[in-house]
Amino acid sequence: MPSLKFAVLAGDYIGPEVMSEALRVLDAVARQENLTLDYTAADVGGAAIDRHGSALPESTIATCAAADAILFGSVGGPKWEKLPPAQQPERAALLPLRKHFTLFANIRPGLLYRELTDASPLKTARIPDGIDIVCIRELTGGVYFGQPKATTTLPDGDIQAVDTMVYRKSEIERITATAITAARSRKGKLCSIDKANVLETSVLWRKTVTAYVAQHAPELALTHMYVDNAAMQLARDPNQFDVFVTENMFGDILSDEMAVICGSLGMLSSASLGASKNSCGLPFGLYEPAGGTAPDLAGKDLANPCAQILSAALMLRYSFGLEKPAARIEAAVKQAVVSGTRTADIAFGGKSIGTRAMADAVIAHL
Ligand code: IPM
Ligand code: MG
Repeated sequence: MPSLKFAVLAGDYIGPEVMSEALRVLDAVARQENLTLDYTAADVGGAAIDRHGSALPESTIATCAAADAILFGSVGGPKWEKLPPAQQPERAALLPLRKHFTLFANIRPGLLYRELTDASPLKTARIPDGIDIVCIRELTGGVYFGQPKATTTLPDGDIQAVDTMVYRKSEIERITATAITAARSRKGKLCSIDKANVLETSVLWRKTVTAYVAQHAPELALTHMYVDNAAMQLARDPNQFDVFVTENMFGDILSDEMAVICGSLGMLSSASLGASKNSCGLPFGLYEPAGGTAPDLAGKDLANPCAQILSAALMLRYSFGLEKPAARIEAAVKQAVVSGTRTADIAFGGKSIGTRAMADAVIAHL
């Protein structure tokens, strides 16, 4: 019986609530598919600050390193907002985790079911068939991590801050390879997004993507777009994209825009794949919902667990190579939602159910 070894980092506020539902769904699938779950929970984020004095304790890194994948909840919230920015859970847990495990490839599906189009600000008229696009974001380079990164007082007494946007050709090539795989599994369309009319890093980005695709995937329809235009096009006609690939900060911004046009953060999953292989010979990865800790919903059985459940499905697919159980979870979520079982965020003011009941409905559709 194949055993799935993963770390569970639930985090703060709604994190632990939606995580326990995702684990219940995984349990149900494991029973049906004859899989064994072998997971270890560890503290992260604000919860870890409270208990260990650090948002990412060594013991948590060790738990992750001993596993084949990380199922992540969400971190941060008002309780820790008074800490210096560099010690806050988002920056002190998530970014070092990404860097430590070189989780360079962030895959964010932008999926909105036809039945939920009115949850999108674009409304049904503009997207009658829903939305189905994928954002591939470079996650360990660019201005997030480039050095120097500092604030200094200048000789004239003024204060100056600097962040550095830096990319190597090899970093661009490996994220392009991820994008090629994604585009091949879909409609074969890839759009690379940059700011090559202004930034040196973007000039290298465009040149590298063009050459890499020409050499490795000439069958793909590759286009390029400036990021400001891309922001506009996403809001105008999102389905003109199939797969888009972009650098770290552009991807951060565009993926939030993609999330809002897809109706509810409560439905969006993500995968961050690493450069190294796990004991299954597949990418080590971190899987997390796109939404945050939603402090206003915490402890009220209100949060939508679907994003966490769908993130668990991505983990089965990418880090364990279990396509069938992954697809079964995705189908069950879709059937539950389409048949009208909905948490408040996607109920349009109609009848809604709680976190636990939503997961029950998904399990019933498995
Ligand atoms: C995201 C988040 C993070 C990021 C924050 C929490 C550091 O916005 O995953 O998109 O900027 O990458
Ligand atoms: Mg973001």
